[in-house]
Amino acid sequence: MKPDANVVEVVLESKLKNVEVSEEVARSVSAKAGFGEEAGFQIEMAVHEAVINAIFHGNKEDPRKKVHLKFLTLADGLEIHVRDEGKGFDPNTLPDPLAKENLLNDSGRGIFLVRKFMDEFRVENFPGRGAEVIMVKHLTSRIQSNQGGTGREHEGNVASG
Ligand SMILES: Nc1ncnc2c1ncn2[C@@H]1O[C@H](COP(=O)(O)OP(=O)(O)O)[C@@H](O)[C@H]1O
Ligand SMILES: [Mg+2]
Repeated sequence: MKPDANVVEVVLESKLKNVEVSEEVARSVSAKAGFGEEAGFQIEMAVHEAVINAIFHGNKEDPRKKVHLKFLTLADGLEIHVRDEGKGFDPNTLPDPLAKENLLNDSGRGIFLVRKFMDEFRVENFPGRGAEVIMVKHLTSRIQSNQGGTGREHEGNVASG
C-alpha cells in the first residue's frame, strides 16, 4: 500500500519491560527518519502510551498475546501501528482529562497525550482479533515544540498506564 515506505516491525511479549524496548526502537527510527530531538521525544512518548495500553488494557498481560509494533518511514514522516490482541476500544468515548471532575485523576491521559503529540491518530478494531492504534507524525509537524510546554513536564507527576 505504501511502496516507498521503509518498514521496521517488532513483536513484543505483553510484559512491562518491553515498553522500554518499544521506546528505544521509536527513538532510533525517529532519528533515522529525520526528526529532531523534541519531535523524537514526542514520538517516543506516543509509542510509550500506546504500547502500555496494548499490554495492559488490550492484552491484559496475557503471555500468549503479543503487541505488534510497526514503523513505516515515509518521505514526509513516520506512521506507527500498535496492534494488540484484545477486545478493542473506541477512543471517541473516553472522558476528557481536562474536565474539572477529571483534573485530579492519576490516569486517563494516555490517548490525550498521543493526540497532542501526533498529527494523526485513529483506532481500527478487528472484532475478536484486537485493536490497532495508527498514528502519524509529519516531518513538518503542526505540533510546535512549545505548545503546552515541552511535554516533559508530565514526566514524574502524571501517572499514565
Ligand atoms: N489497546 C487498548 N485496548 C482496550 N482498551 C484500551 C486500549 N487503549 C486504551 N483503552 C481504553 O481507553 C482508556 C483510556 O486510555 P488512556 O488515555 O491511555 O488512559 P489510561 O490508560 O490511564 O486509562 C483506557 O482506560 C481503556 O479503557
Ligand atoms: Mg494508558
